[in-house]
This record gives sequence, structure tokens and C-alpha cells, in this order.
Amino acid sequence: MGRPDNPTMTKSAILLTLYLLLLSHQTVSEEQVQQNVFGEKGENTTLQCHDQPFNASSVLYHWKKDGVIVATQNPWKPSEHLSILNNGSLRISGLQYIDEGLYTCECQIKDESSWQTHSNIKLQVADGPTSISLDIRPATLLKNGTLYVNKSSDVYFNCSSVSRPSQNLTWTVENLAQDNHDKASGSGSTLKFFINRIQPQDQGMYTCTSQNTLSMRTVNKSQELLVYYAPERHPECSWEVAKEPSDVLLICTWREGYPAPTLSWHEVLGKSVIAKGPTINVTSQGTERLEILVNRFILHEKEEVKCTGHHVTGVEKSCSINLEMPFPTGDPLVAALEGSTITLSCTETNSLPSAKTVWKKMDEIINNTSKYNVSKNGPTYKLTIVNVTKDDEGVYYCYSENPLGARELEVILTVRTSAGNGGAIVGVFVSILVMMIGISVGVTVYTKRDRICIGLGFSHLDDDRGDVLSLVDSDEEEAFHDSVPQLPPLTNGHATTLVEIHRIPYNDHDDNADSMEHTDQTHPDQTEAEHQSAYC
Ligand SMILES: *[C@@H]1O[C@H](CO)[C@@H](O)[C@H](O)[C@H]1NC(C)=O
Ligand SMILES: *[C@@H]1O[C@H](CO)[C@@H](O)[C@H](O)[C@H]1NC(C)=O
Ligand SMILES: *[C@@H]1O[C@H](CO)[C@@H](O)[C@H](O)[C@H]1NC(C)=O
Ligand SMILES: *[C@@H]1O[C@H](CO)[C@@H](O)[C@H](O)[C@H]1NC(C)=O
Ligand SMILES: *[C@@H]1O[C@H](CO)[C@@H](O)[C@H](O)[C@H]1NC(C)=O
Ligand SMILES: *[C@@H]1O[C@H](CO)[C@@H](O)[C@H](O)[C@H]1NC(C)=O
Ligand SMILES: *[C@@H]1O[C@H](CO)[C@@H](O)[C@H](O)[C@H]1NC(C)=O
Ligand SMILES: *[C@@H]1O[C@H](CO)[C@@H](O)[C@H](O)[C@H]1NC(C)=O
Ligand SMILES: *[C@@H]1O[C@H](CO)[C@@H](O)[C@H](O)[C@H]1NC(C)=O
Ligand SMILES: *[C@@H]1O[C@H](CO)[C@@H](O)[C@H](O)[C@H]1NC(C)=O
Ligand SMILES: *[C@@H]1O[C@H](CO)[C@@H](O)[C@H](O)[C@H]1NC(C)=O
Ligand SMILES: *[C@@H]1O[C@H](CO)[C@@H](O)[C@H](O)[C@H]1NC(C)=O
Repeated sequence: MGRPDNPTMTKSAILLTLYLLLLSHQTVSEEQVQQNVFGEKGENTTLQCHDQPFNASSVLYHWKKDGVIVATQNPWKPSEHLSILNNGSLRISGLQYIDEGLYTCECQIKDESSWQTHSNIKLQVADGPTSISLDIRPATLLKNGTLYVNKSSDVYFNCSSVSRPSQNLTWTVENLAQDNHDKASGSGSTLKFFINRIQPQDQGMYTCTSQNTLSMRTVNKSQELLVYYAPERHPECSWEVAKEPSDVLLICTWREGYPAPTLSWHEVLGKSVIAKGPTINVTSQGTERLEILVNRFILHEKEEVKCTGHHVTGVEKSCSINLEMPFPTGDPLVAALEGSTITLSCTETNSLPSAKTVWKKMDEIINNTSKYNVSKNGPTYKLTIVNVTKDDEGVYYCYSENPLGARELEVILTVRTSAGNGGAIVGVFVSILVMMIGISVGVTVYTKRDRICIGLGFSHLDDDRGDVLSLVDSDEEEAFHDSVPQLPPLTNGHATTLVEIHRIPYNDHDDNADSMEHTDQTHPDQTEAEHQSAYC
């Protein structure tokens, strides 16, 4: 069988037959009709045999690859890989790279000797993208597959993928701060970029897209990346009073960290854990608030409780509260004239958390009545007894309670009757005198002074003015020193007795606040003169 010596010539002849008008004046070159076709590896493809003679049934076909016959119409030797269809097309099943090449379809009208080229096809085999993989470091993998990095770390992103013949890799990021945008793109087998000192706004979804430049097949892979940071400040410890005075709500908050840290409350001394997260309240700002209701069965008399915050990045910070028992202070001995108005006062500054402080008599809480008026001015709790009678004499308690426990100040009220006023003064005075005698200092000198004092201190005393006497032993507990203005020590190591005069002006019965102001021991200047005159 004769093959055409010059394929260009035969092709031109056929084309002339078909497209006479169009092609009569020119010769079409092989290159001009070359067709580029691609198939993907492993798939089946069909190469078309174009421009066939009209009567196909009388035509024989064969296909050449790179000038070598690779397929013929041989019904006795069918090929799995390459086969010629009835209309002359070449079917290639399971494409391999070795199938790449320049394919030509040739046909021969039956019984004619010349083979004519009808198709000139360049076949390429594309593969991929496959094996797309991401490498982000230094990062830690969470259980759900998300990665996290520490804020301010330098992060390296690497994407690699396999594609044939070539690929285009692109890194894109989708985050809260910006819209989607390309971070990097390139045509190598790997594509990397860096983020120096990564910030929270860089947190987002990082996607690497690989596109096969031949098949345009696109594959992407995404990785969620979180940027963690510990709060820069310390946690804040605070407390709130609870319904019951034996309970306290301990509150610990640690703001501005991501993700929310874990908090725990524990005793500093006992080391035992009082409360541990999970959080009660997490806000979008990464605030964790740990609230725990604690009572005195857990707490000790004096205790430091500490809240420790642990952040996943390894940062640990804490805050603490020094809890203190209540300690009400004030004058333990108060005397009043019958019919007058007397105010007992006590101060609670020690307690942490703040105590619930009440006045009590015979275990009964004293409430506002026509007889009593209870009021609070800052840390000072006052009990005003109107129209004092002999029945009011007795022990009053300033009872202070907080979650650590309760303490009370005992105040003894003695009432002098108006009739026995002179006697009362004498009685009180005798007792002072007796105590003064007990002092082992020169007795003579002091008795003389006492007489002067009698003249000075008590000449003002009369029922109309409603003066009050109270005795304060200077050997009392230290706490009382805070509330009683101190006098220079009289002698070394000897107890002295002071007489303190709280002057309650006669006209101030309706305005106890004023009288309280007047006797307020936080104004030493005001009371100093009286103390000086009373102390001899
Ligand atoms: C390719 O053709 C073969 C039969 O020749 C068939 O079994 C196979 O499923 C086909 N593959 C694809 C990807 O179509
Ligand atoms: C095609 O060839 C067959 C026999 O080889 C013939 O009978 C038929 O008429 C031909 N058809 C055309 C359109 O030429
Ligand atoms: C030949 O046949 C195949 C399958 O039957 C078809 O896909 C192809 O388009 C046909 N080619 C021509 C040129 O008609
Ligand atoms: C994975 O877990 C982290 C924290 O545990 C969370 O912030 C993130 O949204 C989770 N990601 C997904 C995709 O569930
Ligand atoms: C984050 O920083 C802490 C120390 O600050 C370190 O222990 C941890 O390994 C870091 N984590 C990552 C993912 O870099
Ligand atoms: C990127 O990762 C690939 C494979 O994961 C690796 O072969 C390549 O070396 C890496 N590129 C760089 C710059 O580290
Ligand atoms: C790769 O793709 C991106 C977007 O898909 C395009 O902007 C870029 O020009 C392409 N690069 C190459 C080399 O094709
Ligand atoms: C990744 O591919 C999926 C489908 O394969 C597509 O829905 C998604 O939009 C692509 N993501 C990106 C960022 O190109
Ligand atoms: C969370 O906080 C809000 C306000 O700070 C508060 O009203 C709410 O009770 C808290 N939730 C819990 C479970 O403590
Ligand atoms: C004062 O009121 C409380 C309840 O508010 C009550 O328990 C107490 O008995 C009252 N005291 C007196 C003396 O009535
Ligand atoms: C008692 O009454 C006074 C006013 O007369 C008021 O200031 C005070 O708060 C009241 N005390 C209580 C416990 O209600
Ligand atoms: C004081 O109490 C006495 C006896 O209880 C009473 O007679 C007198 O009227 C009261 N005075 C005032 C001002 O309430």
C-alpha cells in the first residue's frame, strides 16, 4: 500500500475539494490546522478524525503518533488502550503521560492506494493538582483541627501541591479585619509567605488554591488560624455582699485575653481550691468572670483568698483579697441622765468583706422606733435612745457579722436619775477617785489636781445641758486607742483612767446628727480641750 510522499500536498488537495472558494489561492500548512487537546491522566478521551470523505463506509483509518502508526482498524486485534471508532475517531482509555504526542488521523478510500491526513492533534496529559498540603508554623493544633499561634510570633506559611504540567498557587486569607485578599501567588511547586509579628486581626481562614495551568482544574485547602493572647493586665478580685451575712460572693475577672482564660479561687494558706472555672460569664472580649458564693464553713478567721488566671499560652497571673473578721470599736461605758437623749456609737472598719452591723439588746435587733433611732454614717453605727429612763440601763451590743464570723462590742449604759443627780456625780466621782488612788504615782499631787479638775470639768454639768460621762480605761484593748484620743502617758507601765466628756447640747434633741458630729472623735482638735481639762 502506497503512502503519500508528501502529506502536505495531499492535505491541500482534499481541502481544495472541500473548501474550493476559500482555499483556491493558498496552501494550508500542517501547523495551521494543528489542534491542541488535553486529557486528564486516567481518563478516557476521543480524538476526532475531521474532514473525512463523504462516504465513510468505504474509508479505512489508521492513527499515527509522532509519525508512527499506533492504531489500525483491526477487528481481530482489538486494543483496550487505543481503538478506532466507526467514524474514524481514536479513543484512548486510561490516559497516561506516554500518550502525549502529535496524533494524525489518516484515511484511505477503499481500494485507493493513497492515505490522506485528516487530523493533526497535539495531545497533552494533565494531572492534578493533587497532594495539596499546608504547613503553618510555629503553630499548635487544636483537637478540632484548628491551629493557633501566639500573638507577635513570626508565622511561616507554606503550601505545596503536585500538578502536571504546571500549576498556579495562590494564598488567600479571609479574616474579620479585611475582605478576602490574595496574600501571595506563584507558579512553583511550593508557595510560601511570612507574617511578621502576627496580630489578632490576622486571625482567619487561610486558603491555598492550586490551579492546573492546562486543565484549569482548581483545588483548594483551607486552614483556620487563631491568634491567641493572654491578658496584659492582672485579674481583678472583688466581692459582693450576699443575701446572708455569712456568705460572700467572690468575683474574679480577667479581661482582654483570647481565648478566655481559666480562673480558680483558692486559699493562700490552706492551698485548697475553693472554686475553679468553667466560667460563668464569657464575653466577646474574652473576659472571664468567675463568681463563687463562699460561706464561713469554707473560710477561716483570717484568710487570704487568691484568684489565679491561667491562659493557654502559658501566662499565669493572680490577685488576692485579705479577708478580715469584723472588729467593732467604740466606748464601752456610757452614762446618761434620765430624760435626756443619748447616742451610742460604734465603728466597724476592720471587716472585709464588709460586715452587717446592728445594735442589739438582749439578743434582739434594735429597729427604728419612737424610742430608738438607728443610723449609719460611713463606718459609724449609731444608736440614739430618746427620753432615757432607768429601764434603758444595761448592756447594748454593737454586733458585727461577716462571712468569716461575728464579733460584738459591749456597751454598758448607766442612767442617773435627775433627782439623784448630785449623788450620781459624787458617785461617779468617787469611783474616779478610787481608781486614781490606785495609781502608784504621787498621790498628793494628783488629788490636788483632781480638785482643780472638779472645778473645771464638772462646773458645766447640769441636767439642762444633758452632759454625758463615760469612763474609759486606758489599759483597754488597742482597738479602743484608735477611737479615743490619746493623752500623753502619765507614768510608765501604770494604768491611768481618763474621764471623757461627750457634750450633747440641750437643743439638739431633734437633731442627733449634729450632736454626733460634735462628739465625733475623728475631730481631735474639737475634743482636745475637753479631754485636756478632764485629764489632770
Ligand atoms: C473509560 O472507559 C472504560 C471502558 O473502556 C470504562 O470502563 C471506564 O470507566 C472509563 N473511564 C472513565 C473515567 O470514564
Ligand atoms: C457509498 O459507498 C457505497 C458502497 O461502497 C455506495 O453504495 C454508496 O452509494 C456510496 N454513497 C455515496 C453518498 O457516495
Ligand atoms: C465519532 O463518534 C464518537 C462516538 O460515537 C463521537 O463522540 C464523535 O463526535 C464522532 N466524531 C465525528 C467527527 O463525528
Ligand atoms: C476549634 O476550637 C476553637 C477553640 O477550641 C474554636 O475557637 C474554633 O472556633 C473551633 N473551630 C472550629 C472550626 O470548630
Ligand atoms: C506560646 O507562648 C508560650 C510561652 O509564652 C509557649 O509556651 C507556647 O509554646 C507558645 N505557643 C505557640 C503555639 O507558639
Ligand atoms: C514547603 O513544604 C514542602 C512540603 O510540605 C517542602 O518540600 C518545602 O521544602 C517547603 N518549602 C519551604 C520553603 O520550606
Ligand atoms: C495565578 O492565579 C491568580 C489568581 O487566580 C492570578 O492573579 C495570577 O496572575 C496567576 N498567576 C499565574 C502565573 O498564572
Ligand atoms: C474552595 O473550594 C470550594 C469547592 O471546592 C469552593 O466552594 C470554595 O469557594 C473554595 N474556596 C476558595 C477560597 O477558593
Ligand atoms: C452574666 O453577666 C451578666 C451581667 O454581667 C449577669 O446579668 C448574668 O447573670 C451573668 N450570668 C451568669 C450565668 O452569671
Ligand atoms: C427588728 O427587725 C427585725 C427584722 O427586720 C426583727 O427580726 C427583729 O426582731 C426586730 N427587733 C425588734 C426589737 O422588734
Ligand atoms: C432609722 O431612721 C433614720 C431616720 O430617722 C434613718 O436615717 C435610718 O436609716 C433608719 N434606720 C433603719 C435601719 O432603717
Ligand atoms: C419621757 O418618759 C416619761 C416616762 O416614760 C414620760 O412621762 C415623758 O412624757 C417622756 N418625755 C418625752 C419628752 O417623751
